[in-house]
Amino acid sequence: MRRVNYAVNGGPEVLFVEDVPTPVPGPSQLLVRCEAVGVTWPAVRRVREGPEPVPLGGEVAGVVEALGPGVRGFRLGDRVTGLCFEHAYAERAVLAEHMASRVPEHADAVTAVALVHSGLVARKACAAGLIGRGESVLITAAASGVGTMAIQLVRAHGARVVAAVGDKQDKGAFVRTLGAEAVVGYDDPSWGEPVDVALECVGGEVLDKAVRALGRGGRLVAFGAQPGAICSGELMTRGASATGFRMGSPATPSLYACWRDELWDWHREGWLRTRVHAEIPLARAARAHEVIESRANLGKVVLVVD
Ligand SMILES: NC(=O)c1ccc[n+]([C@@H]2O[C@H](COP(=O)([O-])OP(=O)(O)OC[C@H]3O[C@@H](n4cnc5c(N)ncnc54)[C@H](OP(=O)(O)O)[C@@H]3O)[C@@H](O)[C@H]2O)c1
Repeated sequence: MRRVNYAVNGGPEVLFVEDVPTPVPGPSQLLVRCEAVGVTWPAVRRVREGPEPVPLGGEVAGVVEALGPGVRGFRLGDRVTGLCFEHAYAERAVLAEHMASRVPEHADAVTAVALVHSGLVARKACAAGLIGRGESVLITAAASGVGTMAIQLVRAHGARVVAAVGDKQDKGAFVRTLGAEAVVGYDDPSWGEPVDVALECVGGEVLDKAVRALGRGGRLVAFGAQPGAICSGELMTRGASATGFRMGSPATPSLYACWRDELWDWHREGWLRTRVHAEIPLARAARAHEVIESRANLGKVVLVVD
């Protein structure tokens, strides 16, 4: 089977396609014939910055083709999606059973990849931020896969969205179509009125600006891949609080299962929409990494496997 790999850290040009044996699922693992694979900034960043090459993991969606020993919850032919920590940029990927969930009949693989993991991250951020009706919520990287989900979920809480983006020109209009009421650029001297909650997923200087954007009693939720410092003085002045999370493995599988069902219900109801910036063939994964590094994506970037 074909898969995309890299041998040295660097930009999109280090990715190459190779022919490798189809993996064999181990205990409690599924072998999935991939139809769609999500490309995310954290993965693109790992390729560029290292510290050393690791399997290109990510969100996959496809069809169960083989079952490892001990799998109870899935059958051959089931359509599934989930986060794969092994090689995901591939025609076949191995998925831990506890990370997999079913894709409803009405949905295609690209939608599943754009909805489920990004939706769970956004859902978790909203829960951590304790968002209340009528509050104002700042969302950074608001045009990203996670950001597009977060805007819609925050609106569903009855809260007002202030969307922060790297480049206001194209992204500003885009995030407004999803429900953002105000748009700010990272470089803007002011981010407007102080907010009640900041959902911050960029890190670095943007994290610091998000802390400074909080009003009295504000809540920061930090969940970006890039490290950043939180100034305790800025929290103390505002009487603000800060929390963070990393999705990694599902510490609370039943809660995640419930949230996944909700995401699909809301998608079926029609108000929670996935936004896909580009569907790019697997063999052109380097192009997908270029798109993410250009920071131009309006929504999710997805690799498709034919
Ligand atoms: N904690 C967790 O478990 C968890 C899980 C998943 C995702 N996340 C975080 O959520 C964020 C969004 O993830 P995603 O997968 O939805 O993103 P994505 O769709 O791949 O979009 C990436 C976006 O991140 C922003 N960005 C900020 N700095 C960047 C940089 N130096 N290079 C490239 N892009 C940069 C860009 O928008 P702007 O230029 O407008 O900022 C870009 O469009 C990521 O920062 C990621 O770390 C966290």
